[in-house]
Amino acid sequence: MKRARSSLVHQLAYAAKNPDRIAPHLRRLARDTWFRLRTRDHVAYYRAVMKSDTARDPEGAVGSHTHRRWLALGRMQFDYLVEHGLKPDHRMLEIGCGNLRAGRLFIDYLHTGNYYGIDISPDILMAAQNTIVGHGLNHKVPYLTPVRDLRLAFLPGEHFDVVHAHSVFSHSPLHVIEECFAHVGRVMKPAAWFDFTFDRTEGKEHHVLREDFYYRTETLVALAAGYGLRATFMDDWERGPHKQSKIRITKG
Ligand SMILES: C[S@@+](CC[C@H](N)C(=O)[O-])C[C@H]1O[C@@H](n2cnc3c(N)ncnc32)[C@H](O)[C@@H]1O
Repeated sequence: MKRARSSLVHQLAYAAKNPDRIAPHLRRLARDTWFRLRTRDHVAYYRAVMKSDTARDPEGAVGSHTHRRWLALGRMQFDYLVEHGLKPDHRMLEIGCGNLRAGRLFIDYLHTGNYYGIDISPDILMAAQNTIVGHGLNHKVPYLTPVRDLRLAFLPGEHFDVVHAHSVFSHSPLHVIEECFAHVGRVMKPAAWFDFTFDRTEGKEHHVLREDFYYRTETLVALAAGYGLRATFMDDWERGPHKQSKIRITKG
């Protein structure tokens, strides 16, 4: 079971064990406080975080601090979906596609024009364009679109076979996840599936600096059910090395 990282006792114990992390954490705390004061809601706040992180290092901004890790994390996502039945003729929506850590593999695998990536950060989408160029994927004509919210109103109904969101809800307050659940079913084909990862706690739900959010599985399952969606905890993903958990949403 993961401990409540926001608790003062936990934080003090962690600081005592990791004194080298104190200065970077304080810098992050100061930066995030400044962004919070200057932005009107969570999405605007997180967009500012991404702008700052992307300017420093786009691969670091999506959570990979070495290029090797960036490649490995993309591969892990890709292999899992292919093992679960992703086919080249499927149409895929990737929510929070970042700089295409996994997206570059999906774009390469899917038929031309079948990949659609959205993100709240225009800065990371510009980095995503560099990934497309760097990997010679221009001819696959991927769509990349900045979004303000997760209402998905500009996308056609029953269009996508697969929806994917890796390490996005781990950075999202519950109302953002709820907005997604309220609308994602409309763009999914009847037999489509939507996989997302989240930071799981079996204790008290909490967040760290409003950047990292920890949820109980049953909270997300019940939230999905409220919108007529079936949510299944993916046990086989737990056997892999990734520290987040995965839930699959289907329409019935
Ligand atoms: C940790 S990165 C992961 C990126 C990508 N999924 C991957 O695995 O490489 C999280 C991404 O989600 C985006 N994001 C965060 N909240 C979002 C939201 N509410 N809607 C769309 N994108 C969001 C961030 O801008 C960032 O690019």
